[in-house]
Amino acid sequence: MKSIIFKAAHEPLFFLEKEKPTPTAGEILVKIKASALNHRDVWMTKGLYPNLKADTILGSCGAGMAGDQAVIINPNVNWGNHLDYPDHSQYTILGMPTDGTFAEYISVPKNRLIARPEHLSWEEAAALPLAGMTAYRALFTKARATQKDKILISGIGGGVALMAFQFAVAIGAEVYVTSSSEEKIEKAIGMGAKAGANYKEEKWSKSFLKKYGGVDVVIDSAAGDGYGDLLKVLNPRGRIVNYGGTRGTAKINPQLLFWKELEIYGSTMGNDLEFENMVALVNQYKIKPVVDTVFDYSDFAAGFEKMEKGKQFGKIVFRWR
Ligand SMILES: NC(=O)c1ccc[n+]([C@@H]2O[C@H](COP(=O)([O-])OP(=O)(O)OC[C@H]3O[C@@H](n4cnc5c(N)ncnc54)[C@H](OP(=O)(O)O)[C@@H]3O)[C@@H](O)[C@H]2O)c1
Repeated sequence: MKSIIFKAAHEPLFFLEKEKPTPTAGEILVKIKASALNHRDVWMTKGLYPNLKADTILGSCGAGMAGDQAVIINPNVNWGNHLDYPDHSQYTILGMPTDGTFAEYISVPKNRLIARPEHLSWEEAAALPLAGMTAYRALFTKARATQKDKILISGIGGGVALMAFQFAVAIGAEVYVTSSSEEKIEKAIGMGAKAGANYKEEKWSKSFLKKYGGVDVVIDSAAGDGYGDLLKVLNPRGRIVNYGGTRGTAKINPQLLFWKELEIYGSTMGNDLEFENMVALVNQYKIKPVVDTVFDYSDFAAGFEKMEKGKQFGKIVFRWR
């Protein structure tokens, strides 16, 4: 079978014809129809991800056929017994160090599969698992977001950010966005955002507060120099959740934290129950993950390049024939 292989950091990924995997006890073979890129795949090629293993098939997200069942794959591998946090002595994510979804076939434990929501295409279904689960835990479990909250999602072009945005809009919350691109802000407004701000503009938080007032919840994956602005737009008792740190170390003004009684949370992926609840939410509201571009699997390098440049609005998907 054709597969996209990681050799080592800073070396190009390459195609390999590999043996179709043979399911062991409790496993099942899935014929992949589509798989989706996540930023972790890009971090790995740059050596910015821990525990890299040579000759691994990358890819955490996939949708395909298990026998005659259309399925999506839960990318959690061994979350552990605590719902509150993954057991890092055993927890990994599909696609490193275990072989992932960037191949024609994958063998996974049967309990990793859930029926593909019927309203989703293969590409939309492949876009859902990792981004959907991460967004669900950050928004609902950690931020405890409800319809009554004013919510700001930063960096709306991102795959997880867009899923969190769609979930927040679906439950009827008032949702705002930030982005480096006016075009992406306009797209979000077209999808139900109240308004947006360009985080590249200096003092954007000041004009945001003046125009729209404060927010109750911020969902962020950037951190870095702009973090202070996110704390500024939070209302008293506001909650900010970080599931990523794309822009590195954040500078925090402690006065803002204690004066406004702010709450900061970290969030990683989601447990299996959150995965099931996320898919149920997607089914209930007929949410369709936003797919930016579909590349034929043979064009995978173009997909990686697009994500590296941050040009996307939504998920980058590979289609397998
Ligand atoms: N903890 C977890 O379980 C988990 C799970 C998934 C992802 N992550 C991490 O979360 C991050 C995003 O992942 P992803 O897959 O959604 O990536 P992605 O699709 O590549 O999204 C990246 C987005 O980050 C936004 N961004 C860049 N600089 C920013 C800044 N200074 N302020 C606000 N937004 C900024 C950009 O938004 P605009 O284009 O709108 O400017 C960009 O589109 C990555 O660091 C990833 O490793 C963690």
